[in-house]
Amino acid sequence: MVVGIIGSGAMGAGIAQVAAMAGHTVWIYDTQQAALEKASASLKSNLIKLEEKGKIKDAASFFAAMHFVSNLSTLAPCSLIIEAIIENLNIKKTVFSELETIVADNCILASNTSSLSITSIAAACKLPHRVLGLHFFNPAPLMALVEIIPAIQTDELLLSTIKELMLAWGKTPVFAKDTPGFIVNRIARPFYGEAIRIYEEGIADMATIDWALTHIGGFKMGPFALMDYIGQDVNYVVTETVFESFYYDPRYKPSFSQKRLLEAGWLGRKTGRGFYNYAATATLPKPTEDLELGKQIVDRVVAMLINEAMEALHLQIANAVDLETAMTKGVNYPKGLLAWCEEWGKENVLAVLDNLYHQYHEDRYRACVLLRK
Ligand SMILES: NC(=O)c1ccc[n+]([C@@H]2O[C@H](COP(=O)([O-])OP(=O)(O)OC[C@H]3O[C@@H](n4cnc5c(N)ncnc54)[C@H](O)[C@@H]3O)[C@@H](O)[C@H]2O)c1
Repeated sequence: MVVGIIGSGAMGAGIAQVAAMAGHTVWIYDTQQAALEKASASLKSNLIKLEEKGKIKDAASFFAAMHFVSNLSTLAPCSLIIEAIIENLNIKKTVFSELETIVADNCILASNTSSLSITSIAAACKLPHRVLGLHFFNPAPLMALVEIIPAIQTDELLLSTIKELMLAWGKTPVFAKDTPGFIVNRIARPFYGEAIRIYEEGIADMATIDWALTHIGGFKMGPFALMDYIGQDVNYVVTETVFESFYYDPRYKPSFSQKRLLEAGWLGRKTGRGFYNYAATATLPKPTEDLELGKQIVDRVVAMLINEAMEALHLQIANAVDLETAMTKGVNYPKGLLAWCEEWGKENVLAVLDNLYHQYHEDRYRACVLLRK
């Protein structure tokens, strides 16, 4: 099969590698020559490294299957095109309607958008039934999860075809309803938002919150270290988009602490400073290793995460198995949130949420009706 990738940035290049390693011929298109050159160089070096580690046999043949082009019409023979360009609805719509004038009527058109409505992208097309969301995680060659998001116009028969294809690419596909943040970017919001809230209220400092969630909670990275790693620009924009898209539901409210970092250009590791200062001369703050405080922090953040997972289940955003898979494979949570709820005890989770609601009288802490039932 010939696969087309639109946009050769971080995601486009990663997805191109996955498709080439699955045996497809890949055409990678970008408007920026420099981006194409950068992607070509990094893909070549990634494949050589994989060959040196003995993970693949013939890096050169995989690289030869990838073609870097600056003319969109080259993508005419593609059976599947995955778009991974700038996160802007109007630009994506323009690209999709232009693509339709080039490809065959049975070419599947997918978007890797993190937060935009697949339905609105499909609406820009004459044949919207062949459009769907295919949300890979960064870095695409390493992260197994792919969220498959049908638009309301998508042909149902397409879904099993795409699921089989993702399995053949070695990925773990899950299905998500076309709602803001899909599964992962919706359910994970309190990991960041509630941690910032705890910090803003002076309950604990960042290092202590990160320590609690890693050492007691079992998460691979603490929220502040993770936000610095993702980049405040990327993480804040997802939060803000989800908040606005959910008609300003206070559960997803962004914070001033993070917005100020963005305004200052303190974007995290990539700029040398974010929540933490990564300068060679700076020393990272030490946590207060207070087990009782740590447990309170973990209980509060995890109860909020479980509540999100319960709400997603209740609103049929995805089935229970896919919700668990998404959070363990997409963001490497130590266990699925529904399993965590069973283990901890539903009444204990509810008690933490009701206690927060009672203290704050904020809608943010309302417990999902499914949990209460
Ligand atoms: N970075 C992530 O962690 C991540 C994860 C999942 C999904 N996404 C989504 O993937 C998409 C791409 O993100 P990214 O991080 O790879 O961005 P990026 O900035 O690294 O790359 C985007 C590329 O698209 C190109 N581009 C912009 N407009 C174009 C157009 N009209 N035609 C062709 N090429 C164009 C740019 O030149 C650039 O090379 C976005 O929709 C983003 O939301 C990102």
